[in-house]
Amino acid sequence: MEQQKRYGHFDDQHREYVITDPQTPWPWINYLGNEDFFSLISNTAGGYSFYKDAKFRRITRYRYNNVPMDNGGRYFYIKDGDTVWNPGWKPCKTPLDFYECRHGMSYTRITGKKNGIEASVLFFVPLKKWCEVQKLTLKNESSETKSLKLFSFEEWCLWNAATDMENFQRNFSTGEVEIEGSTIYHKTEYRERRNHYAFYHVNAPIQGFDTDRETFVGLYNEFADPQAVMEGKPRNSHAHGWSPIASHYIEVTLKPGESKDFVFLLGYIENEQDKKFSAPQVINKDKAHALIGELDTTEKVDKAFAELNALWDNLLNIYKVRTGNDKLDRMVNIWNQYQCMVTFNFSRSASFFESGVGRGMGFRDSNQDLVGFVHQIPPRARQRIIDIASTQFPDGGCYHQYQPLTKRGNNDIGGGFNDDPCWLIFGTVAYIKETGDFSILDEMVPFDNQPGSEVTLFEHLKISMDHVIKNLGPHMLPLIGRADWNDCLNLNCFSWDPNESFQTTENVSEGTKAESLMIAGLFVVTGKDYVNLCQRLAVRGKGLENTPAADISLTSNHSPLTPAFFSAEAERMQQAVDAMIDAVKKHGWDGEWYLRAYDFYGRKIGSNECEEAKIFIESQGWCTMAEIGAEDGMVAKSLDSCKKYLECEHGMVLNNPAFTKYIYEYGEISSYPEGYKENAGIFCHNNPWVIIGECLAGRGNDAWSHYAKILPSYVEEKYQTLHKVEPYVNCQMVAGKDAFKPGEGKNSWLTGTAAWMWYTVSEFILGIKPDYDGIRIDPCLPETATDYTVNRKFREADYEITIHPNGQQKGVKAITLDGQKVDGTVIPYSPGKHTVEVTM
Ligand code: GLC
Ligand code: GLC
Repeated sequence: MEQQKRYGHFDDQHREYVITDPQTPWPWINYLGNEDFFSLISNTAGGYSFYKDAKFRRITRYRYNNVPMDNGGRYFYIKDGDTVWNPGWKPCKTPLDFYECRHGMSYTRITGKKNGIEASVLFFVPLKKWCEVQKLTLKNESSETKSLKLFSFEEWCLWNAATDMENFQRNFSTGEVEIEGSTIYHKTEYRERRNHYAFYHVNAPIQGFDTDRETFVGLYNEFADPQAVMEGKPRNSHAHGWSPIASHYIEVTLKPGESKDFVFLLGYIENEQDKKFSAPQVINKDKAHALIGELDTTEKVDKAFAELNALWDNLLNIYKVRTGNDKLDRMVNIWNQYQCMVTFNFSRSASFFESGVGRGMGFRDSNQDLVGFVHQIPPRARQRIIDIASTQFPDGGCYHQYQPLTKRGNNDIGGGFNDDPCWLIFGTVAYIKETGDFSILDEMVPFDNQPGSEVTLFEHLKISMDHVIKNLGPHMLPLIGRADWNDCLNLNCFSWDPNESFQTTENVSEGTKAESLMIAGLFVVTGKDYVNLCQRLAVRGKGLENTPAADISLTSNHSPLTPAFFSAEAERMQQAVDAMIDAVKKHGWDGEWYLRAYDFYGRKIGSNECEEAKIFIESQGWCTMAEIGAEDGMVAKSLDSCKKYLECEHGMVLNNPAFTKYIYEYGEISSYPEGYKENAGIFCHNNPWVIIGECLAGRGNDAWSHYAKILPSYVEEKYQTLHKVEPYVNCQMVAGKDAFKPGEGKNSWLTGTAAWMWYTVSEFILGIKPDYDGIRIDPCLPETATDYTVNRKFREADYEITIHPNGQQKGVKAITLDGQKVDGTVIPYSPGKHTVEVTM
């Protein structure tokens, strides 16, 4: 193993990761903002901001995949005599006397010191405000008076991040700004059609500015040596077209020991149509003035920052564990939950591996993300479910993605991924179990956003189930369509043209026999949930006491949703689930593991008979979670095979052996080099499926050992350099055992891994599972586990649950609730504070 250097450490008390060397093996980033205004920020202050949609409302410009890496950001240049430096080291890269970056919960603080001056910048997006605050504190730690020249820098993106990168014939002519006092306004295209502008402000008088990039930087200079800064002279340039920027110039004098705060504000404003201009061609700045007024002093900023911290105190108080194992506690209590929130907000749209222009909100991705987030702010989860369901088609099929700004399905990506519909059930059930809010099923939700097409959300669930049943193949297993969870297993695609996208190219759907065992398992898992839900609705409909009226008022244009209907529906779907189980046992078992699929011609995929990729993880995960054939030993054999063939030092690979050549019938999966991405990479997202399978089977030691292998805090300790990407969050993919560099991580931050890791550890390992009637307690632990306590807020209740494992991996022996014995494993819900003791 190569020498492992350290770049930082956890600070659990402050809920921060502290980076102590700016030259991390890859930019290590954080996210600012929680609702509408968002920013990405690296440990050297690189990154960008946008409003709601990283494609359509990009505010500042960033250069992906550039040289040097991580190019573009909010840069402060400090000119102290002949030395020019940045608190975040980049872009000047002047060696610093001290550097530290603290990534916290929705904020980042970067501090640099040079020649007796400390510059510390706090970056955050205040709650409910459309702006990024950058509070810069300059402090003179030397014994002499210092006269500094301070230049700020932001570069405007011309709103649509995609055209900004390609349509130069137009956008070199559109850029426009206004300058008023210490505020630079970016008003590109602000005419009758566009109603928004951005601004960059500082709460101090300025002695100069620049708004034209080439004038400020110099055409043949770089961010590392902008001409205006190097000469210490702003040009007071006014951008017309080309590339508008915003730079303030401030002269600062600091006596020994003196410090000064400057509040910089990057804001976004939308104006009503009839209030757009204050004079011809002059933008109405009222809202900008108001926003600036709310944050123009250190006190106001500190208060806004305290509010943000209070939000995180509350969010992280809902589920808190004390196991005595710091590495586990910090992931459960801080970072895993934080990553879930970020992933919920962004889906897969904007990271340092996702450009923000390629993808909107994924149908399946967002449903899965819900499970990691629903306990934190349930109303936002509720809205998300409705938004997602509104893009569904009347036959149950789905757009694969929708754009967050318009909430419309994205035609460019299309649909036909046959696992998609099932995920709606997965997300909705998780929401109802957490909240007890059955009324969501009454919501009238359109198809494809078409007004007039609304049916209840329940009916969306029903057609989702039906979509699977109506699309069965020759073995009575689900047809895969364009792909299932594995976007890259393209069994109906047949592409020989390297210019075609596997995701969108024409699919040969007629006469296909391509079936998916992954969808089969998913159908059984979500089908059982659906049956259970229908049974409950049937009982509730019978008018049980204490049932709020809203819960039973389900109506429909198609069929009256009566108790009798729900009973019949439960029965109908139970039969479908049973039939699916039979089909898997009969046609989906290979002897030692579950098959992965049947191809277009009806040939086995993921079988011992195959030359390569004899076993795949997805069907092992889903069929063991569905417990298909457990009584015949299938589950145990499948889990053993995962250990034997898929597991390696860094986790479980997706398939084994890896594909060494492109297979026309399989598509994208075989286009990747061995060990990367869907071709035998450790796709962290699906490791938890097997771990849950292990938990259901009661194999706590195995579950834990798989879990710890991909738990960031364990990886952090062992592999900082090798792993490369952020050590505080999971990444989508770690290079697998067949790769050139096994253990190297990629695609960090936005991944279904976040929600699945959370779901796995919170509900299946630690065993605290929300259910309709209360909290189900069913841990599955390594034998070495010692007593632990979980504080869980649930609806209006607050439980303190202490588990005594007694060396057992699984099986709850006794539960007491406030001293009273509880029958079974569900603590019945009742509001208020409760103490629970669990003996295994
Ligand atoms: C990516 C996609 C996800 C897909 C997975 C496997 O993570 O966001 O939707 O399931 O890749 O292909
Ligand atoms: C590519 C990626 C895959 C992703 C898909 C969707 O195929 O390899 O992981 O899910 O794109 O955009």
